[in-house]
Amino acid sequence: MFSGWLKRYMPRGLFNRALLILVIPILLIQAVVTVIFIQRHFAGVTRQMTHAIGLEIRYAIATAEAAPSREEALRRVQALGVPLGLTLELQPGQGIVPEARTGFFDVSGRAVVATLREILARPMQLDLVTDSKLAQVRVPTRQGVLAVAIPRRRVAASNPHLLLVWMLATSGILTGIAVLFLRNQVTPIRKLAQAAEEFGKGRTVRFRPRGAEEVRRAGAAFLAMRARIERQIEQRTRMLTGVSHDLRTPLTRMKLALAMAEPTPEMAEISRDVREMEGMLEAFLDFARGEGTEESEETDIGELVNRIVADAARSGQEVTLDYDPGPAGELRVMLRPLAVRRALQNLIDNAVKFAGTVRLTVRARPGHVEFRVEDDGPGIPADRREEVMRPFVRLDEARNQDVSAGVGLGLAIALDTARSHGGDLRLGESETMGGLRAELRIPR
Ligand SMILES: Nc1ncnc2c1ncn2[C@@H]1O[C@H](COP(=O)(O)OP(=O)(O)O)[C@@H](O)[C@H]1O
Ligand SMILES: [Mg+2]
Repeated sequence: MFSGWLKRYMPRGLFNRALLILVIPILLIQAVVTVIFIQRHFAGVTRQMTHAIGLEIRYAIATAEAAPSREEALRRVQALGVPLGLTLELQPGQGIVPEARTGFFDVSGRAVVATLREILARPMQLDLVTDSKLAQVRVPTRQGVLAVAIPRRRVAASNPHLLLVWMLATSGILTGIAVLFLRNQVTPIRKLAQAAEEFGKGRTVRFRPRGAEEVRRAGAAFLAMRARIERQIEQRTRMLTGVSHDLRTPLTRMKLALAMAEPTPEMAEISRDVREMEGMLEAFLDFARGEGTEESEETDIGELVNRIVADAARSGQEVTLDYDPGPAGELRVMLRPLAVRRALQNLIDNAVKFAGTVRLTVRARPGHVEFRVEDDGPGIPADRREEVMRPFVRLDEARNQDVSAGVGLGLAIALDTARSHGGDLRLGESETMGGLRAELRIPR
């Protein structure tokens, strides 16, 4: 329960969390110190100061009561007031109403009252409210009521708020410094996360490990991993290209030989096989070329899809385009335009091949762009949709005996392109058209 609560109310970012971890103890310490200091120290000091004043008042009382007459008492008491720095007065009468008036928030005032009561040990009237700068005490003596006005700062330690101001100011400065240092610690982690995210989308950004030892290690590990993956992709591409290239020459020789040979049915069959192999190699090379060299660039999606549809129209393919760039009116995404074009071209080729009507729908979704190719053909059964995306898988060999049918690389290439951009390719059934729905997603 507590951890759930913590999760809900803790800030999400590392920076804010670290700041909280740092600032909460500071505030707590301050609160505790403030309370204890004011309660203990200030009350203690106040008691000591009041104690001293109390003794002086006792002395004044003794002086007054030792005098033989009221006039003499008045004279002596007034004479005593000068060296003590107190205003002492002897008022006629005996009666006072014993009471103590203190302000509600006056913590030290309460200590003053308690201490004076203890020291004087007789009924007294104490007023701390009428004049906030004075503590006014009235005590009955045998020679009349002794009225003492004591400057407040002589009985209570003053200015506790100055301490508070100091504490708040220093903790403010400390927090400010902490913020600066923390930011420097968090930035390298943020940069690492960014580089990893970008790499997931198939983009290599400049990144240098920085910051604390652990963060630097994670950064270095990421760089090593990235280099290894890049090396592997490069190696795969180079192998594909190499093999395809090397096979071209013997194929060309075979084609020449076939052209020279007598045209028998067997020869026609071999010639078809050769053409099929050639198609395979072209597809390979086509794929490998883009993969190896193309860099991501910011691409206007509208321009890209319009071009694809126009190209399709030129080669006699009828494709309806439904493009909605969203509220911005324009959709620009970092991607490898040639690769994405080839992937979409493959999907459209398939749709055209198996169906009559083809529609390309492009939408800006949160986090990604969605390219949807739908047709009204036979579609692909749900249990075979995973399978057809593997290289060289074709469904129903009888369905496409024709050599131009392709070699089973179209969907594999489209999937590869999507994945290398950090996106995905999903096959399904078109709700509106009944045929295949191929959904290519590229993060933006
Ligand atoms: N739009 C579609 N409608 C029906 N079947 C399809 C469609 N697209 C692809 N397929 C099936 O998926 C298989 C693999 O497609 P693909 O990878 O493009 O290879 P190819 O086009 O070279 O045969 C095709 O052979 C076909 O059987
Ligand atoms: Mg195809």
